[in-house]
Amino acid sequence: MITIHEITKRFWAGGAQVLAVDHLSFAVGRGEVYGLLGPNGAGKTTTIRMIVGLLRPDAGYAEVAGYRTSQSPDEVKARVGLVSANDGVYPWLTVREMLLFFADLYGVSTVAARDKLETLADLFQLRSLLHRRCSLLSTGQRQRVTLARALIHSPPVVLLDEPTRGLDVLGSQVVIDYVRQLRDEGKALIVSTHRLDEAERLCDRFGLLHQGQLRHEGTLEELRAATGCNTLVDMFRSFFQPAQVAT
Ligand SMILES: Nc1ncnc2c1ncn2[C@@H]1O[C@H](COP(=O)(O)OP(=O)(O)OP(=O)(O)O)[C@@H](O)[C@H]1O
Ligand SMILES: [Mg+2]
Repeated sequence: MITIHEITKRFWAGGAQVLAVDHLSFAVGRGEVYGLLGPNGAGKTTTIRMIVGLLRPDAGYAEVAGYRTSQSPDEVKARVGLVSANDGVYPWLTVREMLLFFADLYGVSTVAARDKLETLADLFQLRSLLHRRCSLLSTGQRQRVTLARALIHSPPVVLLDEPTRGLDVLGSQVVIDYVRQLRDEGKALIVSTHRLDEAERLCDRFGLLHQGQLRHEGTLEELRAATGCNTLVDMFRSFFQPAQVAT
C-alpha cells in the first residue's frame, strides 16, 4: 500500500548541507501499523512529508496504492490522511465549518461528509466543540480536530506524525484505540512517535531511523533477537547515545 524506494532528501541549513533522509526504503501493507521511530532529527517528519507530496525528494520515490507521489500527486492526496504537528487548523472557521470545508476539498459529497462528521465528532469527543472557532481550542482539542480532519475523506492510508502529542491519557487512548480500528479495517498506517511504550503496544512492525537511514527493521520480536534488547527504550539507549544523535 505504501512503498518508499531509496528516497533521499538534503536540506541547506546555516550554510551546511543536511542529509535528512538517506536512500531510505521500506514498505507498509494493508492492515499494518508501521512505527517510524528515531531520535530528534532522524528524518521521520521529512519522510512522511515526502510520502504525501509536501516535500519533493532529491532521489528515489514514494508510492501510495500504486500511485507515485511525484507523478500523481492528486491521486496520492485523495488516498492519504495526514496528522502532523505542524498542521494548523484554520483559526477563523468553527470546527464544523473546517471539517466540512476539508470534506469538500477532498470531493466528499455533502451527505457523506455530514455522516462522517457525526461519526468523527462522537469518536474524538468533538460534539461540544463543533461550533467553537478553531483559534479558541486548547492544544489537545486542536489535535483531536486535526485527527478528525485527516480522516474526513476515509483515506486508505493514514500517516500520523506524533498523533498523541499534547493529548492527555484519555485522549491518547482514544487515538490508540482508533489506530487499531483503522488497522482492523485494512488501512495502512505509519505512526511516528516518541512515546515508545505506546509504539510497542500499537505497531506491528518498526523502522528504527537514525540520520536518515534505517538502523533496524522488524517486529518487536525480530528487533529483540537482532539487538539483544528487550524494550524499544533499551534499544534507543543502546543505539542512539547522545554523542551519536544528530543535532
Ligand atoms: N526545511 C528544512 N530546512 C533545513 N533543514 C531541515 C528542514 N526540515 C528538516 N530539516 C533537518 O532535517 C533533519 C531531519 O528533520 P526531521 O524534521 O525529519 O526529523 P524528525 O525525525 O521528524 O525529528 P523530531 O523527532 O524532532 O520531530 C534535521 O536535521 C532537521 O534539522
Ligand atoms: Mg518530526
